[in-house]
Amino acid sequence: MRVLITGISGFVGSTLASYLLSEPLGQPLEIHGAIHRADHRIHHLRDRLRLHKGDLRNPAWVDRVVELVRPALVFHLAAWSDVRASWDQPWAVYELNISCQLNLLEALRRHSPDAKVLAVASSEVYGLIDATDIPIDEQTPLRPNSPYGISKVAQDLMAQQYWFNFGLHTVRVRSFNHIGPGQSESFVASAFARQIAEIEHGLQKPVLKVGNLEAERDYTDVRDMVRAYWLALQNGGPGELFNVGSGTSFPVNHLLDILLDMSATDISVEQDLERLRPSEVPRIVCNPQLFAGRTGWAPSVPLRQSLADVLAYWRGRTGIERERGKMAAQP
Ligand code: GDD
Repeated sequence: MRVLITGISGFVGSTLASYLLSEPLGQPLEIHGAIHRADHRIHHLRDRLRLHKGDLRNPAWVDRVVELVRPALVFHLAAWSDVRASWDQPWAVYELNISCQLNLLEALRRHSPDAKVLAVASSEVYGLIDATDIPIDEQTPLRPNSPYGISKVAQDLMAQQYWFNFGLHTVRVRSFNHIGPGQSESFVASAFARQIAEIEHGLQKPVLKVGNLEAERDYTDVRDMVRAYWLALQNGGPGELFNVGSGTSFPVNHLLDILLDMSATDISVEQDLERLRPSEVPRIVCNPQLFAGRTGWAPSVPLRQSLADVLAYWRGRTGIERERGKMAAQP
């Protein structure tokens, strides 16, 4: 069975590729990946993947790749994912998230009309929820409060429209926060873990910069999230929508305390105004009942384990970068 993963070299895409290659999923999979630029995250998997290099914003390129691959399953993961930065460049977010998915769905309806396609939206589509909306289910009204959230509403409804208009078997997920090794430092767990690793290596003063520590978010390990994505395509009906998250939320402070506890170094904490956002939802909790009932999915990696793996990832990378820096400085 041919599978196409867009954004395969990203945090989630590379984790999904590892999962599909390592788990006995009942059928041999030929995995194709659309990549924009090479990335260390899939370096070790390169020989087992068929990679297509280009830009999903280019409709002619997307058409050629889809015509060549004719996938049965598509995981569309290529997207702008940084909420905070979306206020600085709203048009870039709209352009990227909308045009990539539009080009992909257009090519699929021409060349692979029977494909099952996972369209990934976000808990950010719910935006300024009311306390009475918690836990958030699929019926909760959409009140997005960031350009990123708006772009995800567009992706989500576009996927539904391609089912309504053209009968494409799209399955829509609204994913809540996910963390794990390989995530960029633009996101909270990696932002903190990277600084701890740099402080431990003497590359940063022992002061950890943070944003809003009060916000409560629903965190799932990325390895559980990609398993959910596989199950969503296996079990989801056309146009169907699922919220995917753990059902429990923690304040950012709690993540910080766990990470600081894992370090023997004395580190103080300082708020960095640059890390605050123009608008922030105080508390987000997912209601995953619909998805769990349909697929049997439940998260398996505890938060503490995810954070330990994130910190180990950054300790490893920081060590490698430091060695490279030393070698480059040698005469
Ligand atoms: N990034 C970051 N850096 N966030 C911080 C920091 C910091 O130094 N300090 C506190 N925070 C707070 C943010 O204000 C937010 O409340 C929370 O930590 C989580 O921030 P992020 O990790 O940046 O994630 P996000 O909630 O904005 O968005 C993530 O989850 C969405 C699903 O809910 C992203 O992965 C999105 O792409 C995804 O759709």
